[in-house]
Amino acid sequence: MEKIILDCDPGHDDAIAILLAAANPAINLLGITTVSGNHNVDNTTRNALSTCTAYGIKVPVAKGSHGPIVAEQVLAIEIHGETGLDGPELPPASFDLDKRHAVDFIIDTVMEHEAKTVTLVPVGPWTNIALAIRKEPRIVERVKRVVGMGGAYTRGNITPTAEFNIYADAEAADVVFRANWDVTMVGLDLTQTQALATPDLQDRVRAIGGSISTFILDIWAFIATTHGGLLQIAYPAIHDAVCVAALIDPTILTTEKADIRVETSGRWTRGMTVCNFEKMGGMRHFGGTAAEQVDFRHSVAMTLDHPRFCDMIVDAVERLTRLKNSS
Ligand code: BDR
Ligand code: CA
Repeated sequence: MEKIILDCDPGHDDAIAILLAAANPAINLLGITTVSGNHNVDNTTRNALSTCTAYGIKVPVAKGSHGPIVAEQVLAIEIHGETGLDGPELPPASFDLDKRHAVDFIIDTVMEHEAKTVTLVPVGPWTNIALAIRKEPRIVERVKRVVGMGGAYTRGNITPTAEFNIYADAEAADVVFRANWDVTMVGLDLTQTQALATPDLQDRVRAIGGSISTFILDIWAFIATTHGGLLQIAYPAIHDAVCVAALIDPTILTTEKADIRVETSGRWTRGMTVCNFEKMGGMRHFGGTAAEQVDFRHSVAMTLDHPRFCDMIVDAVERLTRLKNSS
């Protein structure tokens, strides 16, 4: 079983990441930590609790950072709506928050578990993870790996070159990519073209029936309007859930090795994830000092097995529906 901490800003696709993490028997969801991103952290935390309640699950939820480390706060209300999770009915939380700050929850959990057994899954701005490194650097050698949604190697969604999660806290992402651990970047190039809630997937979820099916369909109905309208994505993009799917079954993704640097000072390119792919020859480098020489230790997600991704989502809705009905 993959032990994970899901660090998120629900968020429509974040809620599907929670669904997979909570329902799939291959995942041991140690906790959910929240961060400001799609909306402020009060709303994303409320949305995390409401989502768990809607699914009938109870896991530790710890509230995290109120804003980026250095940058001005940027939210995605135009995409995710006034609540940060517009569309589905958000039930009042059926349980209380963990008393710790998300950063302390991450540190405690990583340090308590055997080394190299806990995977961090940041799917909002990467603020909490960077602050956890700064507060307790030993987490870097203890964590198994980081599989995060963010970045792009072609084009962005908040600026021409930057993806939202990385742009929203570029300094934090820079800290996370520079740390000496295994990072897989699940970026927009994949998620907004391949991880889509196609009509066929929506029909399969509809056929299950019940309140969880309705919750998921309402999520997709709302986000279809903003993804379709503002971003011109054909169907709802389920970005964040891809990270969890890849931990359930790594063969669902193909990846390529790269050296990824985050642009923190570019006039037009702030928040860009500059990817130097090993397959491009490995002779190019970033120039400058020795610290800036090439090191292909990151992975970039390239392709997704969409039919199996859909099967995982359908299976998760079925499982949680069965459990909810039997409780
Ligand atoms: C990312 O930004 C958020 O709006 C989504 O939840 C996802 O994590 C996509 O750019
Ligand atoms: Ca997110």
